[in-house]
Amino acid sequence: MTYFERIDKIISSQGKLSRREVKAAASKGRISVNGKPIKDPGLKVRETDNLTLDGLQVTYDPFVYIMMNKPEGYVSSNDQPGLPTVFDLLTDAERKRGLFCVGRLDRDTVGLLILTNDGDAAHQLLSPKKHVEKTYYFESAEIVSDDDAESLINGLELADGLVTKETKLELFSDRRSGLITLTEGKYHQIKRMFGATGNKITFLERKRFGGIDLDDALKRGELRELTNEEQEILLKIVIRR
Ligand code: URA
Repeated sequence: MTYFERIDKIISSQGKLSRREVKAAASKGRISVNGKPIKDPGLKVRETDNLTLDGLQVTYDPFVYIMMNKPEGYVSSNDQPGLPTVFDLLTDAERKRGLFCVGRLDRDTVGLLILTNDGDAAHQLLSPKKHVEKTYYFESAEIVSDDDAESLINGLELADGLVTKETKLELFSDRRSGLITLTEGKYHQIKRMFGATGNKITFLERKRFGGIDLDDALKRGELRELTNEEQEILLKIVIRR
């Protein structure tokens, strides 16, 4: 990885200090580049430069990719004040890294949620042009008939006129549960699709996103960084400009 990046961005992205704190640290001579204290936190350094904070080397790991097993009752955005958000489940250091969710899960939906501070990757993974597959385990109030299954698979018209794309559907033997895979992610899409067949989703859990499986070892509310292998799988979808 080669980079040429602002000192305040590098230090704050590592979750050590906020940008304001970096400024204060620089003015006190706590930050050096190649042994020389610097005053301007906006200065850019490259990876071959030796950047130190309080004499300790700061290495730049620009992006972080996290898998969370989202619990029920948490929203996956910051725009509904007063409700617990998935960001409440992060440590302070993780919160300082400027993470956001790659797509949303409803408050009552559980399972695989990816968080990152890589805006370009997130944008592309959510782009309808990329057709990224998302697989959900569902339970429904009523039996899914053959006709309903066909509609869910081939696409159907929602109440607002939106016509859904083809899906993959695997019904379990009780016909009230199964796996559904979408390549799009419209608001409440699965609930609305089942609603359009006169059925109702009673439980929804995301199991897979873009080739990455929810880690069974993660309990609800737990999270971990993606492994290198998982990062590769995810980032294969992304074109870097
Ligand atoms: N579809 C839904 O209805 N809700 C989700 O959270 C995800 C997909």
